[in-house]
Amino acid sequence: MKKISKIAVLSSGGDAPGMNAAIRSVVRAAIFHGLEVEGIEHGYEGMIKAEFVKLKSKNVRNIIQRGGTILRTARSEEFKTEEGRQKAYDNLVKRKIDAVIVIGGDGTFRGAGIFSQEFDIPFVGIPGTIDNDMFGTDFTIGFDTALNTVVEAIDRIKDTASSHDRMFFIEVMGRDAGFIALQAGIATGAEAILIPEIEGQAEKLKEYLLNESKSKKSSSIILVAEGNNLGGAVEVANKVKDDFKDFNVRVNVLGHMQRGGTPTAFDRFLASRLGVAAVDALLDNQRSVMVGYKNHEVVHVPFNKTIKGNRDISNELLRVADILTI
Ligand code: F6P
Repeated sequence: MKKISKIAVLSSGGDAPGMNAAIRSVVRAAIFHGLEVEGIEHGYEGMIKAEFVKLKSKNVRNIIQRGGTILRTARSEEFKTEEGRQKAYDNLVKRKIDAVIVIGGDGTFRGAGIFSQEFDIPFVGIPGTIDNDMFGTDFTIGFDTALNTVVEAIDRIKDTASSHDRMFFIEVMGRDAGFIALQAGIATGAEAILIPEIEGQAEKLKEYLLNESKSKKSSSIILVAEGNNLGGAVEVANKVKDDFKDFNVRVNVLGHMQRGGTPTAFDRFLASRLGVAAVDALLDNQRSVMVGYKNHEVVHVPFNKTIKGNRDISNELLRVADILTI
């Protein structure tokens, strides 16, 4: 196997708080091991367009606390094509890059998996997405921060909900997964939580609303994961308004405010550990693996498992939500 002397690092897909802490960790761990490091701007898009920047220890100073990603990010359509990946490979060879560390979600790892089957450049992945939907890791970088942001926003909305006797439908991100909604719902004491992983939520919601209209409860929070089967918060709320004219309904779509902001201590800590682990993995000749975090330990999971495996929502958490929602 070719000796690794120079690596590249990139962030790809949606930005997530803690990505900068991961970049910092990769750069400093690489330098610690005597490697050269380059950053690739705009993820795979920048690999194709040769947007390389040399990174020294000082370039990652004072970024551990910053949200977003200093390398910027993108979702690349061209990288999904053979021609795009060929251009990307040629650029890596030109820059004498021996290995790449990618920070992102399942789309990022899918790209990395295909690329490393086609070409002889090893890739290692670090899970970075607010959705927490990666198989093989208990946490992805950014989830904890997004969860705390959502909880803070809901707490504020609850003040208005109770002051005005209103029912709020609050939509949170998560793409096809309900991790943010479920955990934020438990943490804020939401009255109902709609997530994509559960069937038959329409009946349950109706039952809840019927009880509500009988009991004349004054305020409530219904948390709606964007990917749930009944539609977004606006859609669900409109239906409820039609069926229950007495409710004083309002809608809040939290949107991209969930993605930015200062990473929590947990996300900085996780990102710092996984960055070091990713460089270690490359130097240990590990290829096409994600470094993840399971039961408080760093683990290595092959890309094909992280992509194909479905991350199940915990039954225990569902039970807690079931018992505590009304
Ligand atoms: O994957 C992160 C995420 O924020 C999802 O929760 C959301 O569905 C999606 O990205 C939004 O993507 P964009 O910022 O491209 O609109």
